[in-house]
This record gives sequence, C-alpha cells and structure tokens, in this order.
Amino acid sequence: MDKIIVEGGRPLRGRVEINGAKNAALPILASALLTDGWNTYHNVPGLKDIESIKDLLAQLGAAVESNGRSVRVNAAGLCCPEASYELVRKMRASVLVLGPLLARLKKARVSLPGGCAIGARPINLHLKGLALLGADIKLEHGYVEASAGVLKGNEIDLDVPTVTGTENLLMAAVMAEGRTVLRNAAREPEIVALAETLKAMGADIQGAGTAVITIEGVPKLHPAETRIIPDRIEAGTFMVAAALTGGDIEVVNCDPEHLGAVFHKLRQAGAQVRVGDGAVRVLGPETLHSVDIKTTPYPGFPTDMQAQFMVLMSVAGGLSVISETIFENRFIHVSELRRLGADVMVSGNTAMVRGVSHLSGAPVMATDLRASASLVLAGLVARGVTEVRRVYHLDRGYEAIEKKFAQLGAVIRREKE
Ligand code: EPU
Repeated sequence: MDKIIVEGGRPLRGRVEINGAKNAALPILASALLTDGWNTYHNVPGLKDIESIKDLLAQLGAAVESNGRSVRVNAAGLCCPEASYELVRKMRASVLVLGPLLARLKKARVSLPGGCAIGARPINLHLKGLALLGADIKLEHGYVEASAGVLKGNEIDLDVPTVTGTENLLMAAVMAEGRTVLRNAAREPEIVALAETLKAMGADIQGAGTAVITIEGVPKLHPAETRIIPDRIEAGTFMVAAALTGGDIEVVNCDPEHLGAVFHKLRQAGAQVRVGDGAVRVLGPETLHSVDIKTTPYPGFPTDMQAQFMVLMSVAGGLSVISETIFENRFIHVSELRRLGADVMVSGNTAMVRGVSHLSGAPVMATDLRASASLVLAGLVARGVTEVRRVYHLDRGYEAIEKKFAQLGAVIRREKE
C-alpha cells in the first residue's frame, strides 16, 4: 500500500482543475443497465471506485470500454444479475445496481453491505421503497434477493432523504407501470445529474432537486450520452487547503452553485471566496476564525466536508462546535488529528475544537476516504513531516491528490509503504 508524505508550512498558490464527481458517476454508470445499447459518459474521474463499478457492470454481462475520461457501457448482454460479496465489500455503492437490475430483468441478487468505518449505513429504505414498487424482497445468506412480476408505480415516503436510496428508487421506477411519487427525496446535485441522464434516456421525471420527485413510468429507455458534473467535494477540499495554508487557489471546472454552504463557512472563517463562471478563487486569511458547523442533507453543509473543516478549525482562533448529524461514527479522524496536536473533544455527535497555534507532523492513517483527505490537509499546515498511511481510501475518491497539491506548491510525494 502507498503512503503520502507531506512537509507542511507552505502557502498553496495556483490553479487546480476539478474532476468529474465520483458520487454522480457511480449511479449514472449503473443506469446503463436500464438499456440495451451503447451509453457514453464523459468527464469520468480516474478513481478506484469507478474501476469497481466498471468491474461490477462487466460481471453482470455489460460491455465496458474506457478511453481516457470517456467510458462506454452497453448492457445488451446483461445476463447475471448478481453483485457478489467480494465487490460490495470493496464498495458499498455497488448496491446501486439493485434498482436498475430489478427494472430491466425483474430480479437481482445483491450482497447486503455491512457497516463501514463511518456508520452502520443500513439500506432498509432502499428495500422498503422497492417493495412498495411491487418487488418481493428476501434476505438470504447475506444477500438481498429481489424479484418482481411487474413493477408498479406507488407513493413512497422516505424516513430520511437517503442519497443512494433515492437513486435506486428513481432507477427502479422509470420503467415501472404508472406514476411513482418519491417524498422526502434527497436533493443533492448528484440526484439531479442522475435524473437528467435518465431523462436523456427517455424517462419522464419531474422535481429532481426538490423533496418530491414524480416519475411517470415509460415502457423502454434508449441509450444516451452524458457529461459527469464536477466533484463538489474535491472542489471543497482544495478550497479548504487555500484557507488553511493562507494561500490563493483558483479552483476551476467546478460548479459554484453546488457549494453555497461551503462558501458560507469559508467566509465566516475569514477566507475570501470569489465566485466566477465555473471557477472559484479562495484566498486564505492571516488569521482564521472559529465557526460552528452542522452537517445536514443538501443544501446544508455536507458531511463529506466535515473532516476537512475540522482541520481548518483546529488551527483557527477560538472554539468551534462541529455537529455530525448524518453518520453516527464520522469522527474517526479525531484521534489521528490529536496525534498532530489538534485539541478536539468529542461527545456523542458533537466535536469541540479549540484552535491551537500550530499542528506538528507525525505518521497517521485513516480508514475512510474523507478522513484520509483531512489528514493530508493537516499535513499541509503542520510543522515538519506528516506521513499519511493506507492511502487506498484516498484513491477511492481523489484522483492524484498529491500531484495536484504539488502543482500548487506543496512539498508532497507518494511512496510505497
Ligand atoms: N439511511 C438509513 N436507511 C437507508 C439509507 C440510509 O437509515 O436505507 C441513513 C444512513 O444511515 C445515514 C443517512 O440515512 O444516517 C444518510 O445516508 P445516505 O443513504 O444518504 O448515504 P449514502 O447514499 O450511503 C451517499 C454518498 C456518501 C455521502 C452520503 C451523504 C454515494 C455513493 N455516497 O451515501 O459519500 O456521505 O450520501 O451525503 O453517493 C463519500 O463520498 O465519501 C461518501 C461517504
């Protein structure tokens, strides 16, 4: 496994390009299963998770071709509707094939994802919604076994606005008979991106991006060509790096519309945020101010930015209170940040961060993607050398993060452990 070695203390300056969004690309690639022709996707990021979903689509019988950042998928040969434990264990988002497999083949066998580092992460709401569409759902030997004679539209009220749950149900409902109304649906930009792709394939969807999505089933979809939206979390991570190091970074190829809550908190912390057309320039202040953060579903402050903001707060003046309301165990970075000298106290889902004058480099590691990103950020501002181990998790969601930081002036490299 690789490790990333950072020598902290340099303000980062320059321009960084943002890739396509992992969490938009995953459901969109899965949606190729709904048709029997060549779907084409552009701006697909080069990530481990993307390789995992491509492997899964191929195992299901789809043809997958990649050419740089473009990927083509043809599911004409869809034959074996099973997502194995081996694949789902590697990437929970594999569960996104459940909806499209049921829609297209009327059956699916998908390993039930277990908990992961950040929480138990059940999929009960995916399953409840699919059952309301007429699927017969059984849990056998650690697998979800789903089958349906026909899928029929229905009214589905989600207890919480689950992102992948909304995506699975959208994909199951597009070819169901009649109308489906999804209430308390997730409103993330990735949901809108999936709905736009499905619409380009001939689906009839209204309200994506709001809490109520209405889907009129159509008998068949056709292939489409789609560009993956920019990754708002990758963009936000570089913006925090600018604020944290007192730098000046222009983040290009991003969608500022998706980053309102992050801008608000960066400005409160004292950073200047200058929003342009598909680009944002962030200038770090001399002194960072403490701000309070509460993670909530979109358009609130994203849980996927919480760990990165905690690093920012760990060197800000004063006390900040960070509440994590989405996942029950998403403070795994705290013990590692403490090793770097951060002063953080956790009580339940709240972390109290008292800013310190500086962090000091040390070996650290994390078992979650965003937690790992936060440790690289901490390394960029810490005195001395920080080694971030087990970067496997980083590679799941950030493409060449060390190269991008190096281009901005960081002293950072990757080595084999
Ligand atoms: N939940 C349930 N039952 C369900 C589904 C969800 O109780 O059936 C609960 C979860 O336990 C959690 C909350 O609902 O407390 C929200 O979870 P959600 O289902 O929205 O999360 P997800 O769909 O599994 C996606 C992203 C995550 C991101 C969350 C929240 C993808 C592939 N993953 O996960 O991304 O943190 O939404 O925004 O889209 C990441 O990229 O690092 C990452 C973890």
